[in-house]
Amino acid sequence: MTHVLVIGGSSGMGLALARHLLDRDTSVTIAGRSAERLADAATTLGRPDTLRTGQVDITREDEVRRLLAATGTLDHVVVTAVDARDAYFPIADFPLDDARAVLGTKLLGPWLVAKHARVTPGGSITFTSGVAAHRPGPGASVLAAANGALEALVRALAVELAPVRVNAVSPGWVDTPVWDVLAGPAKAERLAAMAARLPAGRIGTPDDIAEAFTAVQRNGFMTGSVLHVEGGHRLV
Ligand SMILES: NC(=O)c1ccc[n+]([C@@H]2O[C@H](COP(=O)([O-])OP(=O)(O)OC[C@H]3O[C@@H](n4cnc5c(N)ncnc54)[C@H](OP(=O)(O)O)[C@@H]3O)[C@@H](O)[C@H]2O)c1
Repeated sequence: MTHVLVIGGSSGMGLALARHLLDRDTSVTIAGRSAERLADAATTLGRPDTLRTGQVDITREDEVRRLLAATGTLDHVVVTAVDARDAYFPIADFPLDDARAVLGTKLLGPWLVAKHARVTPGGSITFTSGVAAHRPGPGASVLAAANGALEALVRALAVELAPVRVNAVSPGWVDTPVWDVLAGPAKAERLAAMAARLPAGRIGTPDDIAEAFTAVQRNGFMTGSVLHVEGGHRLV
């Protein structure tokens, strides 16, 4: 049975992807830092026969090494991890430690995963960048840089790790729990305002992005690529 690891699978896009994969009779391991969030996700997904969980902080090499030793050889790996707390500040007020934390989760964490993962030849590693690399909003300097660097990392690793395929999915604004952190009570208003701007006329859903991840996994000719799924955000 195909085995897919989703780091960030306890929430948002990663959780939606886990559900899509489990529906296709795939064995899935979801991973994240919080055991409680993982347990809640496992209850929601409800497939104890084919679902496993693993605790990991991808900013820590010892934890990444331990998780990937436990999972063994994988067919596909997806990383959707982000911690949006303290990720947006005007540059004059941006604490260096918070900037390093964003880079740790969004760039060096995925790099550590690629370093330690054992993936079947022709299998894939897919990272998650984001529209901030192309249309950064105020306060997004470090996130924009992290996403842009992640897309460069994908191209380098597609060459170095071949025949394992390495790609990124770059989402636009998607209604996930990350917005509870970013916008709090203003979430609905901010998402509606963006929906009105976008050619697609709506915000993304976690399922929109899950479908992009599964497309990248299935398409054996795709490597070193960034798949933009953002409702036309880069055009406006
Ligand atoms: N939602 C959007 O509008 C949007 C737009 C553009 C790009 N993106 C990108 O899309 C990806 C997924 O975002 P999302 O909205 O699905 O986020 P989310 O709902 O907040 O989920 C984030 C997941 O990452 C895990 N995580 C956070 N830090 C981690 C760490 N250090 N090690 C391991 N796991 C960690 C979280 O679990 P724990 O907290 O328990 O660790 C959680 O499972 C991110 O890369 C984000 O930057 C999102």
